[in-house]
Amino acid sequence: MKNFIRPIIIGNWKMNLDYKSSLSLAKKINLGRSQKGIKNDVVLLPDFLPLAELSLKNKNKNIFYGAQDTSPFSSGPYTGEVSLENLEKLGCKYILVGHSERRQYFSEDKIMALKMENIIKNSKLIPILCVGENLKQRKNGQTVAVIKKQLQEAFSKIKSLSGKKIIIAYEPIWAIGTGKNISAKEAIVVHKKIKEMIVAMFKNNLPREFGVIYGGSVNVNNFKKFKGSEDISGLLIGSSSLRAKDFLKIANNFFYV
Ligand code: PGA
Repeated sequence: MKNFIRPIIIGNWKMNLDYKSSLSLAKKINLGRSQKGIKNDVVLLPDFLPLAELSLKNKNKNIFYGAQDTSPFSSGPYTGEVSLENLEKLGCKYILVGHSERRQYFSEDKIMALKMENIIKNSKLIPILCVGENLKQRKNGQTVAVIKKQLQEAFSKIKSLSGKKIIIAYEPIWAIGTGKNISAKEAIVVHKKIKEMIVAMFKNNLPREFGVIYGGSVNVNNFKKFKGSEDISGLLIGSSSLRAKDFLKIANNFFYV
């Protein structure tokens, strides 16, 4: 397993933008990126409608596209679902899975194992698996235990990650969309634990590349505190990814050194 991956900055647009606004935001981000060097990777997660066009037409080598969610099934009679195969054919490279909003509003905790199994066994997409504690769990000192359970459940149907690239996004639920977040020191402690858990779970079948990124109210004013540590491989950004200027400032200035 590589010790650290190229830093990765992910914009999760959620259900905030209409089709045209998504294309326009992507255009601005593309312009801002092409003028810069390529010391890190940017991943944009629009909703499914603009995703198709953006991903198919993408020519920028350091911008990648992905979906905000995945089906637990590979393909077939599953009304309302989008298959991984379809996403791959559009050129998508990443897939977000287990975001706390999906766990909270769509009862996803129960199908995490199927979703991860589908991604790992049936596709080449790189999963960005979200984990994190809520405020009550944090106050009770349960952060590590909660994350361990989430990881064990998510990977319960998978025996090997050999050859794969895996991103885990540590997102304390209480920090998402609230303006609150944790110190880099605290994030690093949790990120190291997550790495240890993956090493313990997969021993001889570790992923080829593995990184833990941080998410939760990251913005232009606070992103620098997460910068510079190889234990923080990148950022998952919600609200601030909707403003091209802010997102570009973060994306173009987030490196290890
Ligand atoms: P936020 O969202 O940056 O608005 O807190 C982060 C996320 O939900 O991934």
